[in-house]
Amino acid sequence: VKSYEQTYLDLGQKNFGTYTCPECQMSYVQGTLADDTLHTNFHRLTLEGIKYHSYQDEITLETIPEVNGRIVLLVYNETRFFEKLKIKNTIEWVNLELGAVEMTEEKLKTSKAYFYVANKYDIVGFALAVRIEKAYKVIDSLSENAQDESRKVSKLQIGNDNDGSGIFCSTKPLRAACGISRLWVKRDHRRKKIATKLLDNVRKNFIYGCELKPIEVAFSQPSGDGKAFATQYTET
Ligand code: ACO
Ligand code: ZN
Repeated sequence: VKSYEQTYLDLGQKNFGTYTCPECQMSYVQGTLADDTLHTNFHRLTLEGIKYHSYQDEITLETIPEVNGRIVLLVYNETRFFEKLKIKNTIEWVNLELGAVEMTEEKLKTSKAYFYVANKYDIVGFALAVRIEKAYKVIDSLSENAQDESRKVSKLQIGNDNDGSGIFCSTKPLRAACGISRLWVKRDHRRKKIATKLLDNVRKNFIYGCELKPIEVAFSQPSGDGKAFATQYTET
C-alpha cells in the first residue's frame, strides 16, 4: 500500500528496507515497531475482514439472499456507543487502505454509513455519504488542456472537502446533493457490482422521499479505482 511510504532515519536498525507482504500487499519497513504493528493489524483485517453484527438503530435497505447478505444503513448516533464504534472502526480500516486522513467528529455527525454485508456477518463493502451543497467537476490532469474539453472526465468532486491531494478541479461549482467521502469494496469482492449496489441504495435513501440521479452524487478525492468507478457510475 503506497500510502504507507514514510521517511525514516537510518539509525542502524536491522532489516532496514521496504518489504511488501505477499498476502496483504502492504509495503512497510520491517523491523520498525510502528510499521510492524500497523502491518499486523492491516494483515489480520485484510485476511479476516471486519464483522457486522446487528445494531439497535440499523435500517435494512435491501436483502441479498444469493450471498446471505443485506445492505444496511447506520446513522452516526452519539448516544449509541456500539453503532458509533462500528462506523468509526470501519472508517479507520477503510482509511488505512485508502491512505485517507482521519475524519472529524463534526463531519461524521452529518454522514450516513452504508454497509454491504455478505455471509451474514462479513462487511465486504462500505460507503459513507454526506450532504453537500456544491461540487466541482474533476478534470483529468492528462486532459487539462482547454481545447481538450471533450475529453475531460466528468466525475464530481466535493467542493468543500479538498485537502489538496492532487485532484484537478474546474472552478465552476455544479449542483450535487450527496457526497461520497469513502467508498470501499473488499479486494476479492471487486467488480461484482457491490459498489454499484451500495450507491444505488445511497441514491434511493439518502434524502427521504427523493431519489437522486447518479449525476447528483459527487466523489471526494477519488483514487484510481474510484475514478474508474465514478466515471462509469455517473455517466450511464
Ligand atoms: N477499473 C476500471 N473500471 C472499474 C474499476 C476499476 N478498478 N472499478 C469499477 N469499474 C467500473 C467498471 O465499468 C465496472 O463494471 P464492470 O465490472 O462490469 O466492468 C463498474 O465500474 C461497476 O463496478 P463495481 O463492480 O460496482 O465496483 P466495485 O464493487 O468493484 O467497487 C471500488 C469499486 C469501490 C472503487 C473498489 O475498486 C475499491 O474498493 N477500491 C479500493 C478503494 C478505493 O479506491 N475506493 C474509492 C476511493 S474514492 C472515495 O472513497 C470517494
Ligand atoms: Zn501482510
